[in-house]
Amino acid sequence: MKFYGSTISTLCLLLLLSISISGFVESLGINYGQVGNNLPPPETVLTLIKSSRLTKARIYDTNPEILTAFAHSGVELIVTVENNMLSTLMNPQQALQWVNSHIKPYYPATNITGISVGNEVFTDEDTSLTSYVVPAMVSVHGALSQLGLNSYIQVFSPTSAGVLQESYPPSAGSFKPELANVITQFCRFLHSTNAPFWVNAYPYFAYKDDPTRIQLDYVLFNPNAGMVDPYTNLHYDNMLYAQVDAVIFAIWRLGYGGLDVRVSETGWPSKGDQNEIGATVENAATYNKNLLRRQMANQGTPLRPSVRLEVYVFALFNEDMKPGPTSERNYGLFQPDGTMAYNVGLSSLAHSSTSSTSISLTSSASKETHKGYQSLVYWMFIYLLAFQGFMRRPT
Ligand SMILES: *[C@@H]1O[C@H](CO)[C@@H](O)[C@H](O)[C@H]1NC(C)=O
Repeated sequence: MKFYGSTISTLCLLLLLSISISGFVESLGINYGQVGNNLPPPETVLTLIKSSRLTKARIYDTNPEILTAFAHSGVELIVTVENNMLSTLMNPQQALQWVNSHIKPYYPATNITGISVGNEVFTDEDTSLTSYVVPAMVSVHGALSQLGLNSYIQVFSPTSAGVLQESYPPSAGSFKPELANVITQFCRFLHSTNAPFWVNAYPYFAYKDDPTRIQLDYVLFNPNAGMVDPYTNLHYDNMLYAQVDAVIFAIWRLGYGGLDVRVSETGWPSKGDQNEIGATVENAATYNKNLLRRQMANQGTPLRPSVRLEVYVFALFNEDMKPGPTSERNYGLFQPDGTMAYNVGLSSLAHSSTSSTSISLTSSASKETHKGYQSLVYWMFIYLLAFQGFMRRPT
């Protein structure tokens, strides 16, 4: 009986462990920008994305070729309303027309999970966008509701980290006073529709602006002493997490502490102009590799350690037609011909789908599932031990 008991318990454990290991996997997201004249066609891009085992992508428009190519692909897509459309889409009729022509024909074959209504509107040179964005989000959301799509497709608007007045220490996080009013309305909308607050966060910018005072290891996620927030006592070993927690604190100060905060863009350029300190292949590879590693470990920020930080890397390709300094054209993980700009660890995957080192990542949701299984395994184990003990007694 003792023999059977332990065999059964071993079998149960193996079974449950294998369930917990083969649970849902989900990868980090990738930003698929298209500002290049040499980028491959969407079908080829999809193959590249899939062979890298990326399952989430964001595009900066509603390019019909991409929406068509990504149908039935298993890749989730966030699409974007261009900033110059915001004033038009404040009108509910126009918004309905837009959703009817730009979203509805492709959904659900193409798994559009979110509509980004503008990008970095609060820091755009065109300051009128600031007052357009919330009304446009309300109209687009209203149109989705009318078409019965609102529970499948979220409406949000990624902001630049430049909306912050204070970001250091993270607990001091606050929005620029001139934006507080509109960002309060913005957060109220996100809260009422259960949508996340997405932020584009680039520790690279902070480093480039002050390379003598900011430690490279701290911005690159390398081992370093880090800093302790004197008010929360939380320890930060990298700047990205500190920036995200600063945003969480800023939102909390406006009264919407429960909002989910996610990173819609982060990355590091592999090349820059003379004055763009730190824009090197080595640093770009280190930043993205370390980020990937932390994602695989399901890390959350010090303020929300149990929730994996959702991150979309910028960007899939180097985009040769982007204006601005050299760095702007060199954020890609890949060259336009599909070869790697540098090795992030996606390499083995892009060329051998049978590689055992999967970069597929467990999502925060599946992490909960994971925990569920783990505790189930635990209780199963306790139960079987007790059962064995009980069975042993008569002998
Ligand atoms: C689309 O993505 C959502 C969110 O991850 C997922 O729940 C849903 O199952 C996906 N739909 C399809 C058809 O794959």
